[in-house]
This record gives sequence, C-alpha cells and structure tokens, in this order.
Amino acid sequence: MKSITVRTPNDLVIEERQIPKPKKNEVRIRVVSAGICGSDIHIWHGHNPFAKYPRVIGHEFWGYIDAVGEDIDEKRIGERVVGDPVVSCGSCYPCSVGRPNVCAELQVIGVHRDGGFSEYVTLPAKNSHVVPAAINDDDATMIEPFTIAANICSQLNPTSHDVALVYGAGPMGLTSVQALRGVYGVKEIIVVDRLEERLQMAMESGADRIINNTHLDLAEALVARGIYPTLIIDAACHPSILPEAIKVASPAARIGIMGFSSEPCIISQQGITSKEISIFSSRLNSNRFPLVIEWMQERKIQPEKLITHHFGYQQVVEAMALFEKEQRHCCKVLLTF
Ligand code: NAI
Ligand code: MN
Repeated sequence: MKSITVRTPNDLVIEERQIPKPKKNEVRIRVVSAGICGSDIHIWHGHNPFAKYPRVIGHEFWGYIDAVGEDIDEKRIGERVVGDPVVSCGSCYPCSVGRPNVCAELQVIGVHRDGGFSEYVTLPAKNSHVVPAAINDDDATMIEPFTIAANICSQLNPTSHDVALVYGAGPMGLTSVQALRGVYGVKEIIVVDRLEERLQMAMESGADRIINNTHLDLAEALVARGIYPTLIIDAACHPSILPEAIKVASPAARIGIMGFSSEPCIISQQGITSKEISIFSSRLNSNRFPLVIEWMQERKIQPEKLITHHFGYQQVVEAMALFEKEQRHCCKVLLTF
C-alpha cells in the first residue's frame, strides 16, 4: 500500500508499506479521503512535541472497513466509517471520568501511532463510527475537525444568552462559529482575525460581526461597540490572547483555550476572580463523534463551506504547502486515496 510518511522532520515521502493486519479488537479501514490539519504540518516540520518518527500522518479520515481482527464481528466488513484518532486505555482516571482525550496512555492516530494518510489504516473497532448515507463523502472527512468544536463547546455550554467572541477564523475558529450558530443558537458571534479573507469566511459560517485586529486595540474596539463577550473561544492560540480575553470578558464569562504553546503568558488573579471568570481548556475530543454525526445529519452545520481544495494523495506535498502558505485562500484541503 502507499502511505504518506514523515521519516524525519522535513522529510515527507510517499512510500510503499505492508498492508497492516488488524490486531485483536481492531478493524482495518481502506481509506477514501483524509483532511490536512495544521498538526500534520507541524509533524512534517518537526514542531509537534508528541510525534515520534517515522510517522504516517493524518488523523481526519474515513473509508470502508475491509478486515477485522480477533473478537470483531465480520459483519462489520464493508461499513462506511470515520476514525476517531483518540486511542485511550479505558481504565485510567481520565478515562474513568469520560475524558479519554487526556488518557494517561493517550495514543493519537497520526501522531503517536500511524495515521490515515495511507491506503489502509488499523485502529480499535470502538474508534470507528458508522457514517450514515445522508452524510456525503466530503462532509464525512470534516467530522473530526468538528469534534474539536464540539469538545470545546461541551466545556463552555453555550446558550442563547451568550455573546460569543471567537479568536481566529482558521478551520478551528470556523467550525466553532458554525457550532455556536447552528447548534447552540447563541445571541451574537463576533470573530476576530488578521486576514480579511478569513473574516469573510467567518461571515459565511454565521458570524454576526467581524473585527480585523491588525491595527487596532481589540479591548478598546469592543468597548466602543458596547460588546462584553460572555463566552470566548481562543482558536488563534497566541500566548498574548488569554490575557486579552480575560480583560475583554464580561463578568461571569467562560473562556475556552485550545493552544499548545509552551510560552508563558501573564495573567492576574484579580483579572479573573474579580469577574469570576471560568477558564476551560480543550484537547482533541472525548467521544464527540456520535454528536457531530448527529449535527451533520440534522444539517445544523455546513461543513462544505470550509472545504476549499481537493487533491489526489500523490499531490500531498503540493497540497500541504498550499495549506501552509495560502491561509487567505485555504481552509480545509482534502486528499483522496
Ligand atoms: P490556523 O493557523 O489556520 O488559524 C489561526 C487563525 O488565527 C489564523 O487565521 C490567524 O490569522 C489568526 N490569528 C493569529 N493570531 C491572531 C491574533 N492575535 N488575533 C486574531 N487572530 C489571530 O489554525 P487552526 O487549524 O484553525 O487551529 C487554530 C489553533 O488551534 C492552532 O493553534 C492549533 O494548534 C490549535 N488546535 C488545537 C486543538 C485542540 O484540540 N486543542 C485541535 C486543533 C487545533
Ligand atoms: Mn485536525
């Protein structure tokens, strides 16, 4: 089979590999499509602290089950499934409280173990979720990115009273905007980014107002417009954002962060406690695939609005370079296998 492998940082190849055999309780998927994510780019360039090399990348993928391991019903062969990249032990403390995404033994497909940029991939059977026929092929590839939004929203509990501020109109900000609009029906959504084209995408995904913060002080701009966000999602993830979010937040607001920077940022107890702000963090997803599949079936979200490019897997280098360099014109880039 052909697999897209990062052998060592900056050395990405399409190589011939042995088709893997599913182990006990695993299934094998013949991959049809996979989405490129920022974290694939980070692994490519050696900037992901969790990645081990060589690594077949890709964690946003779907296809058809074509083989099953011991203890899995052969009737599953032929199922159209999407893979949840979060492989967890099932018995540690976080797993026992429904947080497998931060399992003590966490293995993320495409990061810690081989991923979905490959003609075939194996994974635990419980990580494969049937994709109903009502969800088309492109949308199926978008399920995983929306699980990230589903996870952070589950932490923040958005309601129709919320004025939401979303930092960043990249794929993660935009999936969050669509969820806040279509699923939770928040009162107002403001999106801030530095790229005009991406802000336009935010409008198309359901933002009510957009703010380009390249040349303005966001805190002043919000006050001038009478906006006091009650719910803030940081999907831009620069270390300077959390202090600013605390400053602009309404009393009793919730803030959700999802960044992995190791740079410190300066926040004060007073800033947080005086407004009794709740700060949540969100990593990957904890069993949110069924929820997102439901959202898509009910047409609460519009994944197609985020898909800007398609490539055959043979063009992976071109596709990843475009995704990395053309942020103004790219959102989700999908590969076909
Ligand atoms: P992206 O790089 O495509 O989008 C980030 C956007 O934020 C860009 O449009 C950029 O112009 C904007 N931006 C950067 N600094 C800004 C600032 N100071 N103010 C306003 N806008 C600013 O990235 P993507 O794929 O949307 O992911 C966003 C972040 O989420 C990344 O840092 C990524 O590492 C993180 N992430 C976290 C996950 C988790 O589970 N916790 C999962 C996936 C991504
Ligand atoms: Mn991703």
